Amino acid sequence: MVGSTVLVAGATGDLGGRITRALAERGALVRALVRHDASASAGQRVSELGADVVLADVSDVASVAAASRGVDCVVSALNGLRNVILDRHSVLLDAAVAMGTPRFISSDYSADFATPPPGGNRNLDLRREFMGRADRAPISVTTILNGAFMDLLGAEMIIQPRLRRVLSWGSADQPLNSTTKDDVAAYPAAAALDTTTPRILRVAGDTLSVRDLAQTLTRTTGHHYRPLRAGSIRSLGILIGLVKVLAPEPGAVFPAWQGMQYTRDMFSGRVRLAPLDNDRFPDVTFMSVLDTFAGVSLPLAVT
Ligand SMILES: NC(=O)c1ccc[n+]([C@@H]2O[C@H](COP(=O)([O-])OP(=O)(O)OC[C@H]3O[C@@H](n4cnc5c(N)ncnc54)[C@H](OP(=O)(O)O)[C@@H]3O)[C@@H](O)[C@H]2O)c1
Repeated sequence: MVGSTVLVAGATGDLGGRITRALAERGALVRALVRHDASASAGQRVSELGADVVLADVSDVASVAAASRGVDCVVSALNGLRNVILDRHSVLLDAAVAMGTPRFISSDYSADFATPPPGGNRNLDLRREFMGRADRAPISVTTILNGAFMDLLGAEMIIQPRLRRVLSWGSADQPLNSTTKDDVAAYPAAAALDTTTPRILRVAGDTLSVRDLAQTLTRTTGHHYRPLRAGSIRSLGILIGLVKVLAPEPGAVFPAWQGMQYTRDMFSGRVRLAPLDNDRFPDVTFMSVLDTFAGVSLPLAVT
């Protein structure tokens, strides 16, 4: 509802900033929860997006509860590992419950994390674990699933502009979900103002196979793109094991092996989103891959 107050955690981040702006555009009163030791410039950037900045100790339930007074929905766009996805989120959740906040949107924004077997994808496992915790709390929780961020596809991930190839693991015909960051951000913004939002919302701006992607890029760039089979899904699994040993990058949220775990799960088809809720909010429209890559030069910078 217009006029609702929404607390955004993670508004200083990439997706959180976009969600903050989308909420303000929808007429919400946006309160951005910012770490009490954040720089003045971080707070200034968030307030320019249309939010009232409230500083809090995000590890302390009482501090976050004080910041959550009178809020209709908490939206999280925090990013991190266990200390964030489990610990900081539990503080947010406990504070919301303590203040009688009706609704909570967790920081998921991923492929379907309920379907892969536990132990195979570290970041998805953390979200599944938090989901179990959130489902036991007396508050209505929503998870938004959107596949890969479409903006990242052109940053030399599966699209290889220098080679004019699109990499596949296993079949080049496996459909892959992706959604632009701005379209992802529109969904928690709309859902935060909808008192009837269900437990899970699944969206995808586009669902294209590697073969479809190559054809689309050929149309948008004028260069001939072709699929290139990098290997089988099993061989990617072996590679992930090797990279984890050789380049573990402890503490990194998205080390190379984690990106490979997402890639394997997407090419296996097990994290594909269905059915889609793209029509739930008629004023939210989605950019296709064709729209996104028309007129852009590749590779895109990773932002
Ligand atoms: N599906 C995809 O392809 C895809 C890709 C990327 C991200 N995502 C998801 O999108 C969500 C947001 O990611 P993002 O890229 O926007 O992240 P980001 O730009 O790194 O922003 C992270 C936010 O979390 C806050 N934060 C991090 N550690 C914290 C801590 N210990 N205590 C309190 N706040 C902390 C940061 O605050 P400070 O500014 O104060 O550090 C910042 O506001 C995550 O769920 C992420 O997994 C999905």
